[in-house]
Amino acid sequence: MKTEITSVRARQVWDSRGRPTVEAEVTLAGGAMGRALAPAGASRGSHEAIDLRDGGARFGGMGVDKAVAAVNGEIAGLLKGRDVRDQAGLDEAMADADGTPNFARLGGNAVVAVSLAALHAAAAAEGLPLWAHLAEGRKVRIPLPEIQIFGGGAHAGRRTDLQDFMIMVPKAGSVREVFEVTADVFRAAGEIMAESGRLAGAADEGGWWPVFDSNEQALDDLVRAIERSGHRPGEDVFISLDIAANELDRGDGRYRMSLDKADLSSAEMVERVAGWVDRYPILSIEDPVSQDDLDGFARATKAYGARVQVIGDDILVTNAERVARAAAAGGGNAVLVKVNQAGTVTRAKAALDAARSRDWATIVSARSGETEDVSITHLSVGWDAGQLKVGSFTRSERMAKWNELIRIEEAMGADAVFAGPSAFAPSVAAGLK
Ligand code: PGA
Ligand code: ZN
Repeated sequence: MKTEITSVRARQVWDSRGRPTVEAEVTLAGGAMGRALAPAGASRGSHEAIDLRDGGARFGGMGVDKAVAAVNGEIAGLLKGRDVRDQAGLDEAMADADGTPNFARLGGNAVVAVSLAALHAAAAAEGLPLWAHLAEGRKVRIPLPEIQIFGGGAHAGRRTDLQDFMIMVPKAGSVREVFEVTADVFRAAGEIMAESGRLAGAADEGGWWPVFDSNEQALDDLVRAIERSGHRPGEDVFISLDIAANELDRGDGRYRMSLDKADLSSAEMVERVAGWVDRYPILSIEDPVSQDDLDGFARATKAYGARVQVIGDDILVTNAERVARAAAAGGGNAVLVKVNQAGTVTRAKAALDAARSRDWATIVSARSGETEDVSITHLSVGWDAGQLKVGSFTRSERMAKWNELIRIEEAMGADAVFAGPSAFAPSVAAGLK
């Protein structure tokens, strides 16, 4: 059998923050091979799959020797001889062998690299690009990107309370046009920062690392950057924010907005963001409240979810049950899908399906610690997710993923359909008409 797994191997490589990470390779009897690298988050939810790190003094405790050993030993033993086409079976075997709810024993970083490498091997055995292997002949869309202009929060020394200030260009005709608009806005934002003496470098995902006095100043400058670039805020270019409110949670049900010198209750936090939604051309809000604040998530969705995308990241952690629970409580209309939050391709796809069956939007996302691996670009297309979030418009671990999308769009030729407004939940899409 050509698709029988003959070898599973891992090695330590390095991520975009210069930290060790796991690279896995799955080889098949027919000679096909798949390779994938584990990404790593910085603003992690505590319900996500756990990266196994060596601890101790070496590399600040971030070593992955144990995770690499888990792949080369136990996981290889588990998967060798199996048919790579049975992705669900492979993923289940790793979950069963791990025995914890969050891959704490074998390591989420070990498991996700192997799970994705197996998927790549299956596509290679068919002689197909990964997106086409996943699409299985169905019509799939080119996703709408969310692209970071300013980085803040845990990715930039907490220079802003909010983590990501991004743009979306849903009415563009193609993803190539989105990138051209983004390049203009990104350059204009850099000029504005430099002129006002507020440019302090690059954040973890490559966006400008600005020195702002308030969160609203960042929003004001983003609007100015869109205008200076010759585009129209709220007409063709919209703002998307990842509040990453988990990082603002003081642990006693209140939120600390340091820049704004405010301590807010959950309801006040929702009100503050709702005020921004009224005053700025905001189309998407991620994690408006912290990971266990389901009431706040529902309150935010009630306040502005009919016209604005409300994404759950740390609160949903790419988990189908958490999506179902949030939806039942009236919280959210979109899920962020990070394969390494779930641990396996199968679990990530289940979270995406759980969202889609409720008419939610779905966004395949990178992590703040990334590599040259472009798997997520293929997942976003092949799963017809509709949206892709990769970080900023600099640094090659980000650009590799955007550039791969250009190649896929070109390979699709006349069949390429840009998701545009259809990427959103129905009521949000209707507002864009
Ligand atoms: P992380 O951040 O990868 O550091 O968790 C990305 C995000 O919050 O979307
Ligand atoms: Zn997030």
